[in-house]
Amino acid sequence: MNHQLESVKLSEDKKSVVIIDQTRLPNDLVYLTISTARELYEAIFELKVRGAPAIGICAAYGIYCLARQIKASSYDEFYREFRRLVEYIESSRPTAVNLSWALRRMEGVVLRNREKEIPEILELLEEESRLIHQEDIAMCRSISEYGLTLIKEGDGVLTHCNAGPLATSRYGTALGPIILGKERGLEFRVFVDETRPLLQGSRLTAFELNRAGVDVTLICDNMASMVMKNGWIQACFVGCDRVAANGDVANKIGTSGLAILAWYYNIPFYVLGPTSSIDLDCKTGSDIKIELRAPEEIKEKYFSRPVAPREVKCYNPAFDVTDHSLITAIVTEKGICRPPYTESLAALFK
Ligand code: MRU
Repeated sequence: MNHQLESVKLSEDKKSVVIIDQTRLPNDLVYLTISTARELYEAIFELKVRGAPAIGICAAYGIYCLARQIKASSYDEFYREFRRLVEYIESSRPTAVNLSWALRRMEGVVLRNREKEIPEILELLEEESRLIHQEDIAMCRSISEYGLTLIKEGDGVLTHCNAGPLATSRYGTALGPIILGKERGLEFRVFVDETRPLLQGSRLTAFELNRAGVDVTLICDNMASMVMKNGWIQACFVGCDRVAANGDVANKIGTSGLAILAWYYNIPFYVLGPTSSIDLDCKTGSDIKIELRAPEEIKEKYFSRPVAPREVKCYNPAFDVTDHSLITAIVTEKGICRPPYTESLAALFK
């Protein structure tokens, strides 16, 4: 049985994007139909669709649907409006490079075909958005295969946030090797950080692995060092939102702390992600813009009553940067990159 849910797709009539509302999981499996720019912006900003690759796929389908609604009598008019929409959607979340990567690819189609009629450009945009989706499926599958070579049956794997099928297209990145391994009859013990404050670990990763029949144990984020010390973890697998040219990795807040713990306990720390998450224009992690989110996510969200005084200040960065020196390898669809990352990552694009 295929237990993997399709997090993003284009509707049959090609007028809207259909997503699983990830904010409603694990309690309700609800599909949302997105047809306007505002709905698309909000779905990304509010993390109804989330996970770097899924955001990219959703943005590609979304901008295609929005392009179909543009009323323009010339190419220039069409492009002006298309560009305005791209900028608006791109401003929804800054850290995951897949958002701008996918929008750039879609914009490239418009720019390369300026001599064509608008209906033809729309056809090409549809093709490109479907290609971005199909490529992600292939990339995740390949990452899963490479990742599977790094662990052996019975290993304990610690993961953070959610980098599974919901965050991508199929299999996921960090969860891909485990789900693929399970399909092949291999058993792993997976420890999942709940991932405060938005609980992607408990709400999404535990949900996905449980559906897949994987042995999953949920822990609070502050229990990671304990399970490592107990000797229960043989590898850490995490995803990424943006990888800098030197191998510094932006991923869900808490990832960097986990990497420091893994280093202390001598546990390999693997980052798994598609090449679409690598941004060679960012030389190091300090060039990566980190999204800051509302204090309410810490003080109120998912609690029936506030858990902190209303007037207390909060610092709520959605991501942190893990130093490349703490990363054992970066697993991409094109192979496993080892230090020095400045060389191994650059080689992927040659
Ligand atoms: O804020 P989120 O939930 O979008 O953050 C997601 C992550 O940090 C994931 O690890 C990353 O996007 C990789 S998903 C394959």
